[in-house]
Amino acid sequence: MAASATGKVCSVFKSGLFRDSVAIVTGGGTGIGRAITRELLHLGCKVVIASRKAERLHQAADEMRSELGEGSTADIKAIQCNIREEDQVKTLISYTLDTFGRIDCLVNNGGGQFMSPAKDITTKGWNAVINTNLTGTFQMCREVYNRWMRDNGGSIVNITVDNWNGFPQFVHTGAARAGVVNMSKTLALEWAKDGIRINNVAAGTIYSETAAANYGEHNIFVQCLPDMPTKRLGTVEEIAAAVCFLLSPAAAFINGETLKVDGAASLYGRQVFRIPDHEKSKPYTWGKSRAPTLKDYYDDKASKSKL
Ligand code: ADE
Repeated sequence: MAASATGKVCSVFKSGLFRDSVAIVTGGGTGIGRAITRELLHLGCKVVIASRKAERLHQAADEMRSELGEGSTADIKAIQCNIREEDQVKTLISYTLDTFGRIDCLVNNGGGQFMSPAKDITTKGWNAVINTNLTGTFQMCREVYNRWMRDNGGSIVNITVDNWNGFPQFVHTGAARAGVVNMSKTLALEWAKDGIRINNVAAGTIYSETAAANYGEHNIFVQCLPDMPTKRLGTVEEIAAAVCFLLSPAAAFINGETLKVDGAASLYGRQVFRIPDHEKSKPYTWGKSRAPTLKDYYDDKASKSKL
């Protein structure tokens, strides 16, 4: 869904596509999660958004509710939930079933990480990121399955990241997201018999105000632009469209897959985040040969610039 020239929202999907559906979107109040929620609402869905920060979440729900058209079948509710906590996940599922009576779609978008070289990540920091991104996602899937989808079917989409070539400065979330991708393959196999599909959307470098505020000092969005084949960043609406496609009957035979939405950036082979201390590379010798290093390159440039 995107804003048209007239300022109205427009969607490529059929009006009312999710008219009879109920969805849970974790992290649905900000950034990518909010764009997914808006698109689902626009298509008639009833959505429960959940995240840790209650005030921002309820404000987002109020704003999105005010955008609903006259006579819309859509509705939105918000409930605070830390997906790391099993009892809070159970409460979220109970709340959704008590409020809307069913759960057709689950979007595991809630996640988080901090930027750090691997050597400086404490076990506490590591566990926090793994617990949110991997364990939290698993708990959501398991509870939705046990409480509703096992008997009624449904569709799950997890938001992951482009980490195919490793993820410098983000070893914790790279490992957790790789775990989510493999978890999805297993769940797709175990649950296909119950009419459930589970897929992932691997988001490339997507601009959102929330992400810009998180990584502001590193200015990552500007840094990575020269390496983007598209020469532009992705938008949250482009992720939302991929998610709605995978949730919809148009993707009825797609299961256990990961769809990259990255403008071909992962094919280009450059890292968004540079390897820490890369310019401090040590000389490499084998026998008598000595291969030039990046440090030689920098030193050479520095000595030439002095002339
Ligand atoms: N978004 C980021 N972290 C989260 C968490 N622990 N629970 C729910 N949503 C989140």
